Amino acid sequence: MGLDIVVMAAGKGTRMKSDLPKVLHLLAGRSLLQHVLNTAAALQAQHIVVVTGHGAEQVEAAVRAPRLQFVRQSPQRGTGHAVQQALPWLTDDEGITLILNGDVPLIEAATARALVAACAASRLALLTLELADASGYGRIVRDASGTLRAIVEHKDATLAQRAIREVYTGVMAAPTSLLKGWLARLTPDNAQGEYYLTDVVALAVADGVPVVAAQPQSDTEVLGVNSPLQLAELERRYQRQQANALLEAGVRLADPARFDVRGALRCGRDVAIDVNCLFEGEVQLGDGVRIGANCLLRNARIGAGTVIHPFTHIDGDALGVTVGAGASVGPYARLRPGAVLGDEVHIGNFVEVKNSMLGRGSKANHLAYLGDATVGEQVNFGAGSITANYDGANKHRTRIGDNVHVGSNCVLVAPLTVGDGATIGAGSTVSADVPPGRLTVARPRQFTLPEWQRPTPKTRGEK
Ligand code: UD1
Ligand code: CA
Repeated sequence: MGLDIVVMAAGKGTRMKSDLPKVLHLLAGRSLLQHVLNTAAALQAQHIVVVTGHGAEQVEAAVRAPRLQFVRQSPQRGTGHAVQQALPWLTDDEGITLILNGDVPLIEAATARALVAACAASRLALLTLELADASGYGRIVRDASGTLRAIVEHKDATLAQRAIREVYTGVMAAPTSLLKGWLARLTPDNAQGEYYLTDVVALAVADGVPVVAAQPQSDTEVLGVNSPLQLAELERRYQRQQANALLEAGVRLADPARFDVRGALRCGRDVAIDVNCLFEGEVQLGDGVRIGANCLLRNARIGAGTVIHPFTHIDGDALGVTVGAGASVGPYARLRPGAVLGDEVHIGNFVEVKNSMLGRGSKANHLAYLGDATVGEQVNFGAGSITANYDGANKHRTRIGDNVHVGSNCVLVAPLTVGDGATIGAGSTVSADVPPGRLTVARPRQFTLPEWQRPTPKTRGEK
């Protein structure tokens, strides 16, 4: 008895007032549809069939899932018509079909599993919810004994039916062979002239097939996105859930309402995160890490006890950024892809590091650029110094040994090797290799003109 999943994603999303198809709008950095597909993937279905229509090519190119199939629905003639398009993939007549919505992103796998279990290949199972304000939703109509009889769409409902607070969430699980029969019998005789998937309920009742209802753990799971306002509100709910989970795990968030994770954040013990921090992609924070206010970290691993000071921007992109233990980064520092900092490294304000390794205890504390550099241990890289890694055509590496002292305002023109223990005088432009253990200065000597006099200002009447 296998499971197939149909995800409806053909609708236009007019109320988003956007050129982007609605299901591609981002929640926590991931498209609405991708959220649904990630949950679907956890359910081990035989097929995940996505019904596309509006912006089909763009939608199909943007999402990923195992055993994913696309079917197109054009024109869009209702939710029942949408599921009809998926029939070629619903071949397991002993199986169950689960129907999800591409614009309802936060449905939990456990809720979907419970619904599939309630269906058990012999019943029609609906995910329903009691809402204080049910307007716009399909209402769950029950008879005097409480037995579920039908779903009536808001636009087709009588005043008495509109008073019903139990609504259909748009998620159902049905025995596949029965569903096929019901879909074939749908008609568009309703207020919207559409083929309503919800009409299968009355057909099931007519056939004597039991219809059961299950509820989600929380209403957040079934909230749909139809407008930018709903998207922003759902984003906050989702972020709050993530914040709560981290707080429960012992992470100290200064303010859970000013905290965003767009990806996965893993934290050790005694991690403290100040306000307005944003974590993207995969971020790992070791034990005792402290993150100051207003930092952005993306695809990065930060070692135990390290402090990231306020306004620091760390973007590992595809290569990642790694910071060792007991290090100090920022304020106002920028770590770019391929930055690998050893333990106890100090990177200070307005310092940029890209594709460079810094060994244990090395420091670049002020206004510096390290690009394509390999830096040893206990190096001091002075204020205003840079590696000139680009000759206008190619990038070159700079290799700096251990215990090197680079004075302020130096330009190290790559390719270049600086030997262990070397000192480079301030203001040097270094374009040849530097020997170990010596002072190298590459700038004109200072001189003073003994006879020189400052000109005096001209007086009035003088030519
Ligand atoms: C639907 C339900 C309603 C339920 C509500 C929950 C029907 C008839 N009504 O109403 O009972 O309370 O969801 O949110 O099913 N879609 C297509 N093709 C179409 C039409 C829609 O793929 O031809 C997709 C949409 O992109 C969307 C989903 O189906 O992802 C739901 O469609 P929508 O128009 O939003 O249905 P509602 O009117 O909200
Ligand atoms: Ca909807």
